[in-house]
Amino acid sequence: MGRKIILDCDPGHDDAIAIIMAGLSDDIELLGVTTVAGNSYLENTTRNALIITELAGIDVEVYPGAAKPLVRDQIVAHDIHGYSGLEGADLKEPTKKPSKEDAVHFMAKMIKENENVTIVATGPLTNVALFAKMYPQLIGKVREIVIMGGGIAFGNVTPAAEFNIYADPEAADIVFKLDVPKTLAPLDLTHQAYIQKDDVEKIRQFGSDILNTIADLLEFFMKTYKEVFGIDGAPLHDPTTIAYLIEPDMFEWEDYYIEVELKGKSTYGATVTDIWKVTKKKPNFRVLTKIDRGEFIKLLLKLMGKLKK
Ligand code: RIB
Ligand code: CA
Repeated sequence: MGRKIILDCDPGHDDAIAIIMAGLSDDIELLGVTTVAGNSYLENTTRNALIITELAGIDVEVYPGAAKPLVRDQIVAHDIHGYSGLEGADLKEPTKKPSKEDAVHFMAKMIKENENVTIVATGPLTNVALFAKMYPQLIGKVREIVIMGGGIAFGNVTPAAEFNIYADPEAADIVFKLDVPKTLAPLDLTHQAYIQKDDVEKIRQFGSDILNTIADLLEFFMKTYKEVFGIDGAPLHDPTTIAYLIEPDMFEWEDYYIEVELKGKSTYGATVTDIWKVTKKKPNFRVLTKIDRGEFIKLLLKLMGKLKK
């Protein structure tokens, strides 16, 4: 059996690809998908997780979590993902309903009942922080927390802060301080994992309706990255966390001490990274620094190929 994970996400185009990769990989046992407000409102991210799991035939429940950040005002990323959080394709309304069990209770139940559960977080860290505060006695059982978030050299919502952290810095601060093995995929890494037109063409060449829908979503994502950031090729931020669990050898990493800025006027939500160990503080993260993009795209296409009917 593969690595047991809970995927906490805010679909979101790149979250959608992460769900599909996790659900289709033989190296991952996807225990469930928990949703959080982030790229769009909770009802949208939850609906999108239901749509994607149904579209890809991934038989897992979706557990709704936090609708708002812990302290700050809510922000969304409709400029990137559209109002629904998953614009750009002709998507059917889900037939499945969300679970009546909420995200935090599901996390606790899974971690209580299973050994070696990994939490993968690809949205704001509100649910993970609430889990840690409500079930501190269970934190020691968590095998690893793998987070897409933060930026060392740059942000993408402010010059200093990346969206997942900036959307709930107080939650990130709680999670960053947890005494659990933690791995971070910051923007410095995820911008190396970009998808381009010819990669999307290869997905279309499988010639299946499902994969054409996924290609449509990726083309929308690429279009917004071109319009908003002037970038050719969209960084597949969230799927890098799943690729790390499946094929860690395609990455390089360093151990760094990182803390979240909560007071700065222009640095609120920044992930302040001690590259040169000047604080003498023990590193609290394995930070993914390099990815072999060719291997990443190969893995993506291999897993997508499982959907060609
Ligand atoms: O900054 C990129 C991150 O914010 C990704 O997880 C994207 O889905 C959004 O949640
Ligand atoms: Ca996300």
